[in-house]
Amino acid sequence: MVQKVAVIGAGPCGLSSVKACLDEGLEPTCFESSDDIGGLWRYKLVPGRTNIYQCVIINSSKEMMAFSDFPPPAELPNSMHHTEVLLYLRLYAQTFSLLQHIHLQVGELIFIRGRTSMRQDSGTWRRRRQTVGGRRIFGTALIMSFFFPFFLRSISGIESFKGRYFHSWEYRNAKGLEGKRVVVIGFGNCGCDIAVDISRVAERVYLSTRSGAWVVGRVGPGGLPFDTTWISRLVVTLSSLFWAQIPVINDDLPGRIISGRIQVKPNVKEFRETSVVFTDRSIIDEVDVVVFATGYNYSFPFLPPDLQAKSGYRLRLYKHVIPPTLAHPTLAVVGFIHGLGAINSMAEMQARWSTRVFKGLISLPAEDVMVKEIETETATMNQKFVCSERNPLQVDVIPYTDSLAEQVGAKPNILQLLFTEPALVLQVVLGPYTSYQYRLSGPGKWAGARQAIFAQKQRIARPFRTRAVSEEPGNEASSKLSILLAFITGAALLCYLIYNWHLPFFHSVE
Ligand SMILES: Cc1cc2nc3c(=O)[nH]c(=O)nc-3n(C[C@H](O)[C@H](O)[C@H](O)COP(=O)(O)OP(=O)(O)OC[C@H]3O[C@@H](n4cnc5c(N)ncnc54)[C@H](O)[C@@H]3O)c2cc1C
Ligand SMILES: NC(=O)c1ccc[n+]([C@@H]2O[C@H](COP(=O)([O-])OP(=O)(O)OC[C@H]3O[C@@H](n4cnc5c(N)ncnc54)[C@H](OP(=O)(O)O)[C@@H]3O)[C@@H](O)[C@H]2O)c1
Repeated sequence: MVQKVAVIGAGPCGLSSVKACLDEGLEPTCFESSDDIGGLWRYKLVPGRTNIYQCVIINSSKEMMAFSDFPPPAELPNSMHHTEVLLYLRLYAQTFSLLQHIHLQVGELIFIRGRTSMRQDSGTWRRRRQTVGGRRIFGTALIMSFFFPFFLRSISGIESFKGRYFHSWEYRNAKGLEGKRVVVIGFGNCGCDIAVDISRVAERVYLSTRSGAWVVGRVGPGGLPFDTTWISRLVVTLSSLFWAQIPVINDDLPGRIISGRIQVKPNVKEFRETSVVFTDRSIIDEVDVVVFATGYNYSFPFLPPDLQAKSGYRLRLYKHVIPPTLAHPTLAVVGFIHGLGAINSMAEMQARWSTRVFKGLISLPAEDVMVKEIETETATMNQKFVCSERNPLQVDVIPYTDSLAEQVGAKPNILQLLFTEPALVLQVVLGPYTSYQYRLSGPGKWAGARQAIFAQKQRIARPFRTRAVSEEPGNEASSKLSILLAFITGAALLCYLIYNWHLPFFHSVE
């Protein structure tokens, strides 16, 4: 009998989950509470459950965020505006005929649980929804990430502050903030993006940071996307010696700081009627607006409490996906993860893995073994990365995705490729870490994967070809010289890095 799967949410992770179900011959029904697909990437004027602001440009470049069997159109820019990300998602849904499996405006999913006790039941899930109190039974369920804005109400004096304050979740654009004095709290991607955006119209913006962050730009060597150079299997393995924190991506922040439009301040100590006091006792007076870019909390209120156990700050999910306490592995959380790179490709592999677990093609270890593995992994991640309550979902992207792919049977066999296709192995190890490499072999193999890998550089280059440049003979010699220079510089840089334990191309804001 074909297994029925309920997929909750039609954002990027929901879409790739529907596709993974179809690929495995399962029968997905996707329930989306809003009136369209795209999740976060569908910009809404009125804040919905998930939100972006008008100026959002995706952090990961287009090849690095692509689904494994769907390279983005070559003409799209490398760092896509949110409207282009949505376009890509729509093309994906259309190409793989996903829309017919998606039910829009179904109301909020409010309750999901197994038939009786989680340990003894047959592993079926009931879904109820708010609008009509509907209830349907599914063999399995894939649910997406659920985040809620985190407000810092605990800072003393906030109730006496007379200005306006709101969470970054509510921010759309800088309209209405012209000539104002604004304090933005939080030095994550939202805080930095929003501070830069507001600083173009405000009198002054103060950006408060608690623990500092590495800031990197989107543009890397040769004007190419930073991540296509620095996120390769080889470079990530080497640089994992240096990383302890996922960097903030921002092209404009250094320029706004150097021009004094943004001033970086320490953590906020307290609010007064019209001023903000920082931990170094400095005070900014006549503050009109405070933006809390303090990140998101997570919550799965519709799951039974026994499935919400924690390991450290994270949910106790095996491989960040399946609750280990279930008698039958019939529930998976997809995309609830954070790492150096796009969520899409990791989430897609989680969905491919989960569907094969649902089908019984991958068997899970015993509960105590899973729990032990989760605890060990949590301890390792806490040692290696800066994990906090607000950032609990850290993984080492390549080893993590490889570990799932290995069980799926889709991990690229580098040793074998070395003998059979050395040119391809160079791309897989030294080239950008793109997800097409998980379609080269095994279940879900895609005939176009090899070509997608070889053509990725052309797709990256295409949007830059906006004017004709003559190919003069001198150019060839100069490009060889550039390669030689780049090689010598690279070797020197590597020696320097190893010697200093620092990455000099990052700006550190302490
Ligand atoms: C401002 C911002 C920028 C980001 N930029 C990046 C980036 O550059 N790269 C990256 O990899 N990640 C980024 N992220 C992380 C982002 O969360 C993921 O990229 C991705 O959108 C997660 O996909 P998802 O499908 O899990 O969730 P979402 O995109 O949030 O989609 C969830 C869907 O589920 C629906 N839904 C929610 N609750 C219910 C319910 N109870 N019942 C039914 N339907 C429901 C929602 O309406 C929504 O359509 C960003 C996050 C934010 C906040
Ligand atoms: N362009 C893009 O693609 C883009 C844009 C925006 C967001 N995003 C993504 O969206 C997600 C959410 O981003 P986000 O910036 O909203 O959240 P975030 O990355 O969690 O950052 C939250 C910030 O708030 C600070 N903070 C939290 N609690 C605090 C407290 N009690 N006191 C003082 N400071 C506190 C944190 O400081 P500490 O570091 O000290 O905890 C951190 O600087 C991330 O995955 C991000 O990558 C992407």
